[in-house]
Amino acid sequence: MKTTAYITTSIAYANGQPHIGHALELVQADFFARAIKQQGVEVRLLTGTDEHGLKVQQAAERQGVTPQEFVNQHSSVFQTLADLLSVSYARFIRTSDQDHQALAQAFWRICQKNGDIYKRHYRAWYDIKEETFLGLVDEYPDPTVFNVEPRFIEMIDEENYFFRLSRYKDQIISLLSSAELKITPLSRAKELLNFITDKGMEDISISRDALKLSWGVPVPDDEQQVMYVWFDALTNYLTACSSIDGTGKILPDIFWPPTLHCVGKDIHRFHSMIWPAMLLSAGLPLPEEVLVHGFIVAEDGRKMSKSIGNVIDPIPLIERFGSDAVRWFLLKEMHTTDDSRLKVERISEVYSADLANTLGNLVNRLSAMAKQYCSGSVTIEPSEEMRALCTATTVDYGQAVKARNTQAALQLAFNLAAFSNRSIEEYKPWQVAKLPERSKELRQQLGSWFYCLQTVVHLLTPAMPVTADKLSWLAKRSGEIVIPQEVPILFPRL
Ligand code: MSP
Repeated sequence: MKTTAYITTSIAYANGQPHIGHALELVQADFFARAIKQQGVEVRLLTGTDEHGLKVQQAAERQGVTPQEFVNQHSSVFQTLADLLSVSYARFIRTSDQDHQALAQAFWRICQKNGDIYKRHYRAWYDIKEETFLGLVDEYPDPTVFNVEPRFIEMIDEENYFFRLSRYKDQIISLLSSAELKITPLSRAKELLNFITDKGMEDISISRDALKLSWGVPVPDDEQQVMYVWFDALTNYLTACSSIDGTGKILPDIFWPPTLHCVGKDIHRFHSMIWPAMLLSAGLPLPEEVLVHGFIVAEDGRKMSKSIGNVIDPIPLIERFGSDAVRWFLLKEMHTTDDSRLKVERISEVYSADLANTLGNLVNRLSAMAKQYCSGSVTIEPSEEMRALCTATTVDYGQAVKARNTQAALQLAFNLAAFSNRSIEEYKPWQVAKLPERSKELRQQLGSWFYCLQTVVHLLTPAMPVTADKLSWLAKRSGEIVIPQEVPILFPRL
C-alpha cells in the first residue's frame, strides 16, 4: 500500500468573491484527505489561487490598482474561506509565488526541449471570462455561435507558441479507456473520450503577446510572450511537490504523482486531457484519479451567476451554522458528482434533524445516562451484535470513500447514530434503572452504545473535524471512558 497521498483542489481565479461552489470543492478534497489520513497514510493537501491572465489584468486596470495588489486582496479571501472551513491544506499556493513561476518556466523548457512547443501565427476567438479558446476565426467567422456574451469575446490575431497536444491523442485515449488515469464518475471519462473522437485533440496555443497580456509568467528566452494562464496554472500541482536541479530538471518528491485532483465539471477537460499530455511531454508520472464534481445550482435549477444575483456566499453560512454544519451539509446533502440544487432553508432543516436532534442528542443523552447510572465512567463492552454492526458499517463506509461517494459514506455514519437513538428508546434505560437486579446489564448496555458512538465519531471525523475534536474525550483509554463534568452542547438550537 502507498504510504503517501497527494490531494488537490483546483485553484480559484483570484478575481472575485468565493461562492458556495468553491466551498464544495474545498470540503470534498479535505474530506478525502482526512479520510485517507485516518487509514494511516501521510497526506498532503494543496489548494490556492490562480492569479494570472487577461481577466485579472483587465479587472485590476478597471480598479486602478496593480494586478499584484488586486490578486493579493482576492487571494486572501479564498484563504480565509479555506481556514474558516477547517481545510487541512499543507500549502496555500498562489501562482504569483516565485517558486511557482520558476517551476512553470522549467516545465516549459522541458516540453520545448522534447519538441512539443513551436511558434505559429493564427486567428482565434477567445473567451476572457473562462480563459479558454473558442475556435479559429476561419472555421467560425461568426462568434455568436459560441453562446458567450459578446463583451467577453476577444479576437486573437497573433503569433504564439503552441503545445503539440495532438501528439498525445492515442496515449490519452488509452489512459482514459483503460482507467489507468481514473476519472470519477466513469460517465465523465466516456464523455471526454467521445469529445476526443468527435473533435480530435488539436494543438493548443499556450502563450500570448506580452503587449496584450503582461500579467503572467514570462515565456523563457522570449520577452515578447507570456504563458497562457492554463499552462501556468496546471503546473501549480507540481510546484508544491518538487524542486528544480542545476540542470533545469524537475525532481518530484515522495508525494508525486497526485492521488486525487478534485475539480468541477467545467474544467475536467483541462485536467483529464491537457494536463496529462503536458506531463507525458515532460516525462513525469501522471495523476491517479480526477474526481469531477457537479455544480451547485440555485433552487430553481438556474446557474448561479453575478448577473442573476443568485450567488450564495458561504462565509455568512459558516458564521451562522458553524463550519462543521456547512461541511456536513455540502458533503451529505449535495450530490458528490451530479449537479445539486441548493435551498438555503434546507441547511437549517438538516442542522436540526441530523446534527442537533440526532448526533447532539445522542451525545447528550448517553453522557447524562453515564453520569446518572455509572458515576460518569463507562467500560466499553460492545455486544456481539453491536460490534458486528459497527464493523460492517465501517467496511461499507471505507468502500463509499473509495468510490468517492461522500453522501453514501455520511449516510452510513448518520444511520448508525440514528440506530443508537432508536435502540435507547426501545430499551428504555430510565425504566431499567429502577430495577437493581438489572444494573449490571444496564452498564453493559451503556458500554455498547458508547462503543457505537465512538464508531460514529470516528466515521464523522473527516467530515466534521471540529466536532470530532470536541469529542476527543470519547477516545478509548484502557477500555474505559470518563465523561467530562461539562459536556458542551455540540449543536445549540438556533
Ligand atoms: N482557475 C481555474 C482552475 C485552475 S486549476 C489549475 C478555475 N477557477 S474558478 O474559480 O472558476 O473555479 C474553481 C472551481 O470551482 C472549479 O473546479 C469550478 O468547477 C468550481 N465551481 C465553479 N462554480 C461552481 C458551482 N456553481 N458549483 C460547484 N463548483 C463550481 O476554473
